[in-house]
Amino acid sequence: MNKRVALVTGGIGGLGTEICKHLARSGRIVIAADLGSRSERQAEFNLDIAELAAHIFFEPINVGDFDACTHAVKTIEGKYGPVEILVNAAGITRDTTLRKMAPQQWREVLDINLGGVFNTCRNVVESMSDRGFGRIVNISSVNGQTGQFGQTNYSAAKAGMHGFTMALAREVARKGVTVNSVSPGYCRTAMVAAIPENVRNQIIAGIPVGRLGEPSEVARVVDFLCADDSGFITGANIPVNGGYFMDF
Ligand code: CAA
Ligand code: NAP
Repeated sequence: MNKRVALVTGGIGGLGTEICKHLARSGRIVIAADLGSRSERQAEFNLDIAELAAHIFFEPINVGDFDACTHAVKTIEGKYGPVEILVNAAGITRDTTLRKMAPQQWREVLDINLGGVFNTCRNVVESMSDRGFGRIVNISSVNGQTGQFGQTNYSAAKAGMHGFTMALAREVARKGVTVNSVSPGYCRTAMVAAIPENVRNQIIAGIPVGRLGEPSEVARVVDFLCADDSGFITGANIPVNGGYFMDF
């Protein structure tokens, strides 16, 4: 059997990089898709994945732009074959309380975090369904489950991602395609490093395991959901949050 092709958006980010590495170690051809024209960031990424360089390839994508996603998927499929695994890990924050939030800060976060999931899924779901196999994992957030002060935009987008996940999961369940979300808690990446230090320390103090999550602790869950024999898990949301939010 040919190796399955996995597309990871936000692929050179903190979580994305580890997800790419885990999927590559599981025998996938991995496309790390992220904003282009950033030679320094790409160089760092290339160093990080050096030992897996034969299995991980960079392609530029802007998930906020539907036509750009269509173009990127066509390019990737032309070079590597049909996308059978899609991980949506591209995301941004524009934290501020609602009373100060500019319409642009609302739109950007919704367009990239939630609109991006539509833009990529819409471009791969038909081919996955026709081929009778697909794995889609959307990286949501604990803050979509609890709401977070200063994140009306982000919490709305991340909660919306899970609604999308459940609806699409129903549409493609009989076609061999699973759609799940993973909701990380606070992890050690640039996104969390950008939180003011005093606020970040308060957050860490509220995490039962007493530390930030490691990107690899999220990546291994994504890899598990992408396995061929994970076909009975669909429409689920898997929390990976160090006990920060417990639900049943
Ligand atoms: N709960 C209750 N009150 C809070 C608060 C909180 N968490 N944070 C701030 N406040 C209070 C302040 O004490 C202050 O009160 P007073 O007016 O009485 O002094 C007031 O709210 C400040 O309100 P402002 O509108 O002026 O807010 P600000 O400009 O100071 O900034 C903020 C607020 C930008 C949201 C800042 O608190 C912040 O960055 N918080 C972190 C948000 C966060 O967790 N982001 C996560 C980013 S990482 C990520 O998103 C990954 C993931 O999925 C987990
Ligand atoms: P990160 O390091 O900032 O990675 C996100 C990546 O997505 C970055 O490379 C970013 O580029 C890229 N990106 C931004 N806009 C894009 C666009 N329009 N098109 C394509 N790529 C784009 O953040 P992370 O911590 O790895 O987060 C990955 C995902 O997990 C996000 O969806 C985030 O919301 C979610 N998440 C993170 C945490 C956490 O604690 N870290 C917790 C829960 C959920 P730039 O760097 O240029 O923006």
